[in-house]
Amino acid sequence: MSRILITSALPYINGIKHLGNLAGSMLPADVFARFQRAQGRETLFICATDEHGTPAELAAAAAGQDVADYCAEQHQLQKDIALRFGLSFDWFGRSSSPQNRDLTQHLASVLEAQGLIEERVDQMIYSLADKRFLPDRYVEGTCPKCSFEKARGDQCDGCGALLDPTDLINPYSTISGSRDIEVRDTRHLYLLQSKMQDRLRTWIDGRKDWPQLAKSIANKHLDEGLIDRGITRDLVWGVPVAHDGVARPGFENKVFYVWFDAPIEYIAATQEWADATGGDWKGWWRTDAGADDVRYVEFMGKDNVAFHTVSFPATLLGSGEPWKLVDQLKAFNWLNWHGGKFSTSNRRGVFMDAALDLLPPDLWRWYLIANAPEGSDTAFTWEQFQSAVNRDLADVLGNFVNRILKFNETKLDGTVPDGGEPGELEIALLASVQEKIASLTENLEALEYRKAAQDLRALWVAGNEYLQVAAPWTAIKTDRDRAAVVVRTAINLVALYARLSSPFIPFSAAIIAEAVGEAGVTAWPLASDAGLLDSLPRGRTVRAPEVLFKKIEDDQVAEWTKQFDGVEE
Ligand code: MF3
Ligand code: ZN
Repeated sequence: MSRILITSALPYINGIKHLGNLAGSMLPADVFARFQRAQGRETLFICATDEHGTPAELAAAAAGQDVADYCAEQHQLQKDIALRFGLSFDWFGRSSSPQNRDLTQHLASVLEAQGLIEERVDQMIYSLADKRFLPDRYVEGTCPKCSFEKARGDQCDGCGALLDPTDLINPYSTISGSRDIEVRDTRHLYLLQSKMQDRLRTWIDGRKDWPQLAKSIANKHLDEGLIDRGITRDLVWGVPVAHDGVARPGFENKVFYVWFDAPIEYIAATQEWADATGGDWKGWWRTDAGADDVRYVEFMGKDNVAFHTVSFPATLLGSGEPWKLVDQLKAFNWLNWHGGKFSTSNRRGVFMDAALDLLPPDLWRWYLIANAPEGSDTAFTWEQFQSAVNRDLADVLGNFVNRILKFNETKLDGTVPDGGEPGELEIALLASVQEKIASLTENLEALEYRKAAQDLRALWVAGNEYLQVAAPWTAIKTDRDRAAVVVRTAINLVALYARLSSPFIPFSAAIIAEAVGEAGVTAWPLASDAGLLDSLPRGRTVRAPEVLFKKIEDDQVAEWTKQFDGVEE
């Protein structure tokens, strides 16, 4: 049985993430990790903060803090919030770690030894007002491809094109706003991706499991022809361009480009984990150390796909060392905010901290997974969120659990009842439950989140429908044994729901499991198991939990709509 390595795109250090970031990588990765662990597979789930580059420097400057202090503080904040959301990382590292510094420098050296790195003199934008070069996000201007006016030096948010600062029309400094800019010579390292075109094409052609979105983005880049990529920058904060502590001559004031060192942190974070826990990082990442049986799955937003299908593989393949490469890759579209975009600078939208101040994590988790931006961009609306919580969680799942357990407490003796034999209804229910579990399992395995959530909801609905028809409240008056069968079956369903819901809504699932004496039981049920609806020991005391899901009221929706609309741009 294969082991599962999971990475979620590393959130930038520049502040608490919004729900769009959560929905597009960390949360689906967590659901998958929980599902794989429940199936008994050895799973390693890695994430980290992406701490280098201009986003970090700019945010630290805006906060008036030293960049290292800023990163340390923000890392801790993001880590705490991730935990409160139930994100079950085995390790949440930092791309500014010594492990990542060493590994980044190592990979650059071996790439150079392979003849894949070259020093070039480059023209870069220099700000006379700021007395410094303006790499990447330090410069904005008009996109040459789509004319979007606030394109960043590294990428256009209007059309998604990857840019060079010198491509921008009418550039200005984001530090001072100054347009007093000239182009100056500066020396940089280039990764010669053009030499790797064929190797990458062959490798990508062999990726049978990749979804359409990932393959088409990768092929688009290959078809356009891979370009050599500058992997150093004129910045202070980052991985120094050095080896074994010795700076490269002429590069004393330069660092590696953040997009060079960030994906390497997937591996380095695993080293951080190994150093802290005694784990075997090589067994996960080196095919000469046993990683051949690892299935490696990456999660990310669509703007990250090119980096993960082309740039990072180019780094690993080009090294000539036996690194484990991605097997499966799940990319998400955008979760938007009422048709616009979430915006950190304008505080537009709901951020992870604010979300938890309003409501428990499972409500957000359920909504975001059930409405995952898979096929196309989607928009968060409070009405849709309210409906997902009230209809799915409160009316369907919560109602079922409380109704049957309360009934059992008041009309029977509050234990799993004995007596009676399953009849036709129970046989039909079992078949339907088995079929739905099979579909849910398949969809989770295939990373189809919306479909998986529909399957889970259908399972909850099946329980309610069963109760409606089997009507234990009627049976109890004339036929105690029949009532016992129905209540027993329904309580077994409750236990089953706890296990099946656990990857999606782990906190509520744990409460439900405890209510039926199954605390800590998260093993994924086998669809073929004929004992699914009669596995709890008869006579065990079970009790109704407190209200599981409080409904969201219309006046709350009205209030939050106002509160979170943010400042218009
Ligand atoms: N910080 C990047 C973003 O939020 C993602 C980095 S993913 C990694 O878009 F591969 F670089 F780690
Ligand atoms: Zn553009």
